[in-house]
Amino acid sequence: MRVVRDVAAVRAAVAGSGRVGLVPTMGAFHEGHLSLIRAAREACDLVVVWLFVNPTQFNEASDLVAYPRDEARDAALAAESGADILFAPDVDTVYPRGFATTVTVSGVADVLEGVQRPGHFAGVATVVAKMLNMVGPQVAYFGAKDAQQVAVVRRMVADLDIPTRIEVLPIVREADGLAMSSRNVRLDPGERRSAAALHRGLVAAKSAVALGERNPAALARGIEAELTAVGIDPEYVAVVDPDTFTPVDTIAGPTLIALAARVGSTRLIDNIEVAP
Ligand code: PAJ
Repeated sequence: MRVVRDVAAVRAAVAGSGRVGLVPTMGAFHEGHLSLIRAAREACDLVVVWLFVNPTQFNEASDLVAYPRDEARDAALAAESGADILFAPDVDTVYPRGFATTVTVSGVADVLEGVQRPGHFAGVATVVAKMLNMVGPQVAYFGAKDAQQVAVVRRMVADLDIPTRIEVLPIVREADGLAMSSRNVRLDPGERRSAAALHRGLVAAKSAVALGERNPAALARGIEAELTAVGIDPEYVAVVDPDTFTPVDTIAGPTLIALAARVGSTRLIDNIEVAP
């Protein structure tokens, strides 16, 4: 595996390499990230892992400062998982002097995470548009963990005619169901135990749907009860269309239940797909 910092070098490597898969990341790899790299390895001739802690998508300066960084560890894990190139540009490469363009996606980016984290999705959409243009992959791999990010990226790729297929892989979880996240390391032992309630609530809602519950408000109330029982006050619990993220009136087809909550000072998100 080669570590590459500039666009010309990555384009030279990609030229004539067949099917190119891109795995966008901000590093601090866990099994969630590695599952994307392995999927790309299975399906592609050349696997490029993008590693860049994108400052423009952090709406809290303290979150950006606290974000875990360990490029040497990430490089070793990426190589083991089958990456050919670790593309880790500097901030000045991605945002050179005079940079003045922002990609904003309306609708799907304006709700839930878009409300809680102003500017977050403009930062994500802009950096994803840039990396897709820099690398020109046939396929890009994203995790279902960030379901709204997937919906925003799909919308942008369709709207801007970007010729990359977006592949989405399932959420990788810890043994107790907590979705793996680079931020989980910030949970103290008590918070870590409580955090399992996020997935427990979502699974209970999915079971309720299987037993015939069709009312989104009733599902959300059940999840909120599971969270408040362990002292977690959710920012939102939303029952939405998986593509548009608009609320549904009833569970009539594939539906996403998404939530966000602070556990102590750590903000966590999770989601589950349900269907009648
Ligand atoms: P990051 O948070 O590093 O996540 C990189 C990819 O890993 C995302 O597609 C995310 O959904 C996926 N991922 C994270 N946790 C996962 C889990 N437990 N199971 C499966 N996949 C998981 O998402 C970003 O970076 C950035 O916003 C980025 C797209 C790179 C733009 O800067």
